[in-house]
Amino acid sequence: MQTLDVIVHSISLTSATSRSYELRAAAGGTLPSFEAGAHIDVHLGPSLIRPYSLCNSPQDNGRYLICVRRDDAGRGGSRTLHHDLTVGRRLRISPPRNHFPLVAAERHVLVAGGIGITPLLSMAEALAARGASFVLHHYTSSAAETPLLERLQSSVFGERTVIHHSDQGDSIRTGLPAELLVPEPDTAVYVCGPDGFMTHIVTETTAAGWQPGQLHTERFTPAAPPAAADEGAGEFTVRIASTGIGYAVPADRTIADVLTAHGVEVELSCEQGICGACLTPVLDGEPDHRDEVQTPDERAAGDRITICCSRARTPELLLGL
Ligand code: FES
Repeated sequence: MQTLDVIVHSISLTSATSRSYELRAAAGGTLPSFEAGAHIDVHLGPSLIRPYSLCNSPQDNGRYLICVRRDDAGRGGSRTLHHDLTVGRRLRISPPRNHFPLVAAERHVLVAGGIGITPLLSMAEALAARGASFVLHHYTSSAAETPLLERLQSSVFGERTVIHHSDQGDSIRTGLPAELLVPEPDTAVYVCGPDGFMTHIVTETTAAGWQPGQLHTERFTPAAPPAAADEGAGEFTVRIASTGIGYAVPADRTIADVLTAHGVEVELSCEQGICGACLTPVLDGEPDHRDEVQTPDERAAGDRITICCSRARTPELLLGL
């Protein structure tokens, strides 16, 4: 597993409940370049690895900026960051990985809910730098709960940013942004935010006539809890191409669980099928995809599987490990 050593260079409060963390290479110099929409996995403990979107400009190659909202009811990543991380702390991170890229289009509509602003802010920076046509909508509960508000207001694309607060009666439930009411050809729509927010936008835009290929989404939580391993799938075998060894995956365990228990090194991060860290080549057999990260075309190709949550439709899968 390739990792990078970084240092927490600075920490800033970016709303009542969110902080941004500026990471720089521990050895000095630049960090690997990244595309807008990319995320990194932050290693916070032996079994605590969490993905966070980069929210700075991709042209900014000396640092990575992540912004994290504290979620006391979450799985522990944001609490650890908020409570334990101090300036000067060394961290291990993955190189940037992108499953939410900008696509070629005449016009781009970016719609963020809450902390979902992070990848979209990096996209707005990239689009502004190339002189592209875009608008950014940011929906939050209130001004105090708006992550990165000052940066948005002072950015070069401030006049193309529309901020909505539900405590002012302006929420996504009161109506879609004007740019989404009527489908426009050659326009790409990007949505990131809480599950209900995203489901609402996808449902409404689809009903308005937008085509699935125009809608690009990234989730921070699965749309529905990952199906229990024993729902709809029995035992199957995963075979490792490099060793020829096969391992039985019972109905109540994931492929990743089984491989890790047998000492096979695998890459994991969210363990919820939303980050893509565990995507593994499939050389034979048919995956039963249960992730949120692959596109319909990628799923249909069946040549990669998220081993943290997906299963098999055939008695055996041959994995390119
Ligand atoms: S670890 Fe994130 S998709 Fe599997």
